[in-house]
Amino acid sequence: MSALRAVDVRVVLNGGAVPVDGVSLRVETGGWLGVIGPNGAGKSTLLKALAGLLPYQGTVTLDPAPDGRKRRDLARALAYVAQQPTLPPDVSVHEYVLLGRTPYLGYLGNPGRHDREIADEALTRLELESLARRRLGTLSGGERQRVALARALAQQPRILLLDEPTSALDLGHQQQVLELVDRLRLDDRLTVISTLHDLTAAAQYADRLVLLDRGRVAAAGLPAEVLSVSRIREVYRALVSVTTDTSGRPVLNPVRPLDGLRPCRRDVDSV
Ligand SMILES: Nc1ncnc2c1ncn2[C@@H]1O[C@H](COP(=O)(O)OP(=O)(O)O)[C@@H](O)[C@H]1O
Ligand SMILES: [Mg+2]
Repeated sequence: MSALRAVDVRVVLNGGAVPVDGVSLRVETGGWLGVIGPNGAGKSTLLKALAGLLPYQGTVTLDPAPDGRKRRDLARALAYVAQQPTLPPDVSVHEYVLLGRTPYLGYLGNPGRHDREIADEALTRLELESLARRRLGTLSGGERQRVALARALAQQPRILLLDEPTSALDLGHQQQVLELVDRLRLDDRLTVISTLHDLTAAAQYADRLVLLDRGRVAAAGLPAEVLSVSRIREVYRALVSVTTDTSGRPVLNPVRPLDGLRPCRRDVDSV
């Protein structure tokens, strides 16, 4: 069963640019789809469209469908974490994570004990308890990223959309967050769609990848199918070697070109 299916999604910006141009993809329930591609390929725009935050052409179907057509109905089904979340500086970490419960509260409703427990659990899972009283404006980039993820977890969505969730994190916190997301996926059948800058991490955690190039799908499939030396050269203009880890997933290693300029030139297709 596909938890999310997109058919021919196209985003046309006000100025007429088309950063996402006919993208189709699907992710199975409990699956992890990694969206990769060079800077400007359209990854963030695609994720925002899937999250219903940008107008798009084409169709995005959730299964099961949200209970209704209101924003809060969608928010119970799907949570989105931006690449650089804008956080209100004077709100405390605890208050902010509790805001993740908003789609479950009635009008003027205050969060109850159950909501507080869920928010506390999200704080614990991301090892943020000691920061609970801190104002968001005082946090480091990595702490902000973890707080934004904690709020998304408190939302208890079925589908989690993460835009480069580890870009501000050190190696240890990167692993911690990716392992946590993977555990949620396995334990709670959470479905994950994430963009990831680090292709080796994408291959380690995502079970399928979609490679975007200039708004279109250049390749899709298992990490080992998508991450070939020739495709990385074509799409990223980068030289890599690909080895395989013990679980059979590809590991990319940058290789210095003999002629440093050549792989960067779009008109050169052999190196
Ligand atoms: N609001 C916007 N106005 C103009 N151009 C935009 C806007 N949002 C994105 N773009 C352009 O769309 C392209 C894709 O951007 P983005 O989705 O952020 O790429 P990625 O996340 O893959 O780096 C880029 O060329 C970017 O400059
Ligand atoms: Mg982006």
